[in-house]
Amino acid sequence: MNAMTPAPTSQPDLLDFSFVLFGGTGDLAMRKILPALYAAHRDGMLAPGGKILAVAITALDCNGYLAWVEEHVKPRVPESTIDDAAWLGFLGRISYVRLDAAQPDSFASLAEALRNAPGRRIFYMATGPALFVPICSALGAAGLTEGASVVLEKPLGHDLESSTAINDAVGRIFSEDQIYRIDHYLGKEAVQNLFALRFGNSLFEPLWRREWVESIQITVAEELGVEGRGNFYDQTGALRDMVQNHLLQLMSIVAMEPPQSMDADAVRDEKLRVLRALKPLRGDEIRQNVVRGQYQTGSINGAGVPAYRSEAGVGMDSRTETFVALKAEVENWRWAGVPFFLRTGKRLAARVAEIVVNFRTVPHSTLGPTALRPGSNRLMIRLQPTESIRLTALAKQPGLGMTLQDVYLDLAFDQFFQHERMEAYQRLLLDVIAGRLALFVRRDEQEAAWKWVAPIIDHWAAPESAPKLYASGTWGPAASSALLARHNTCWLEEEN
Ligand code: BG6
Repeated sequence: MNAMTPAPTSQPDLLDFSFVLFGGTGDLAMRKILPALYAAHRDGMLAPGGKILAVAITALDCNGYLAWVEEHVKPRVPESTIDDAAWLGFLGRISYVRLDAAQPDSFASLAEALRNAPGRRIFYMATGPALFVPICSALGAAGLTEGASVVLEKPLGHDLESSTAINDAVGRIFSEDQIYRIDHYLGKEAVQNLFALRFGNSLFEPLWRREWVESIQITVAEELGVEGRGNFYDQTGALRDMVQNHLLQLMSIVAMEPPQSMDADAVRDEKLRVLRALKPLRGDEIRQNVVRGQYQTGSINGAGVPAYRSEAGVGMDSRTETFVALKAEVENWRWAGVPFFLRTGKRLAARVAEIVVNFRTVPHSTLGPTALRPGSNRLMIRLQPTESIRLTALAKQPGLGMTLQDVYLDLAFDQFFQHERMEAYQRLLLDVIAGRLALFVRRDEQEAAWKWVAPIIDHWAAPESAPKLYASGTWGPAASSALLARHNTCWLEEEN
């Protein structure tokens, strides 16, 4: 890793900015946002005049906040990237304003602090969603929003209705082109590489359709459990936490038509078409095609872990799902009839995110039954933990006979590109500062995704509906394998 060089950047003129971080003493600020801003600073990607104004209710002055950053943020920055001069320079950008976000009057101190602040204003809501509307309204009332941007973290609402209410209220203060809805998966290098793979190569495009594709699997599996977020997670569950956003975004990039350009709206229009073309799931289809699971005790990397219901903040009778597997279909000419199997879960057997495109087998085998085995032609795009592409084909084993076996064309991106990978948050924050919207979710996309998951949420709300239990360290409940078996296929790891 040390031999890696920073990724080349074509950063245009750096723009001054005033980055106002609501939730400045919160978990997200500590773990993600401030480390990402430090990385951008260290890499010389922030304008020298750019300022960070942290805002929270905690009683601190500026020095007190800087001591908090030193104590809580620095340990979360990779040690190899700490450079004393850069760290001091980073602290020099930061100041602190104490305010109570629920008290509009207290915004006068923020207005005062911003009076002579440089560049465009960015208001980052690293708070719970309940504060998004009060903060935006108070910013509007204090006259601070003109020309500014607002960044909204997920979860944006709990369902279609609550997300519409937040979007309506925020939309009265900020116009859509001022609003940056974060889905951090879109900031991952590997996810952007999907665009390059699909739209930079003529090789795959003719095959990327129902005539040639048998099925697609998208898996985002985690080994981690709820990691002290039991209170939040128990109200949320995997469908809202991962499927409604990250998985449907990945799926829409895999299934979208080539956009006319990479302009924000051109890309988002095409993703939206996919989300709107998702076949609605109802009643029996939900029972058959959606699997809901919850982890029990088990073992991860040889260590015993507790059941979900024993995690802090989780009720003993919780029905919240920590696993979802489902079959989705895109009702358009390109994809009609092709199943997209989506799966995500916590406490699974491995941390992996991958997309598997299974191509149809040859129509007739002149070379024996092996050529008719499903999966003999496949493209596997691995996004995490490392980025790679594997193309599977059949080849003849050396020797007299004509025996076929799988061979692989492998490309490991970290070996090919000897560059450090930019963290998703760093990339997305730089986009916000530069005013680039393409990797942020537009309101209509978000609402289309909520609309599609809504019947599943309703179905699971029925008192008789309960998640299927699975042992930690496995690939989820047996029903997940059965779902694919009903379509004459299996998850990739089940093949051997
Ligand atoms: C977040 C979810 O959006 O994504 C977490 O809230 C999840 O529950 C995380 O662990 C996974 O992200 P990554 O980048 O680690 O795959």
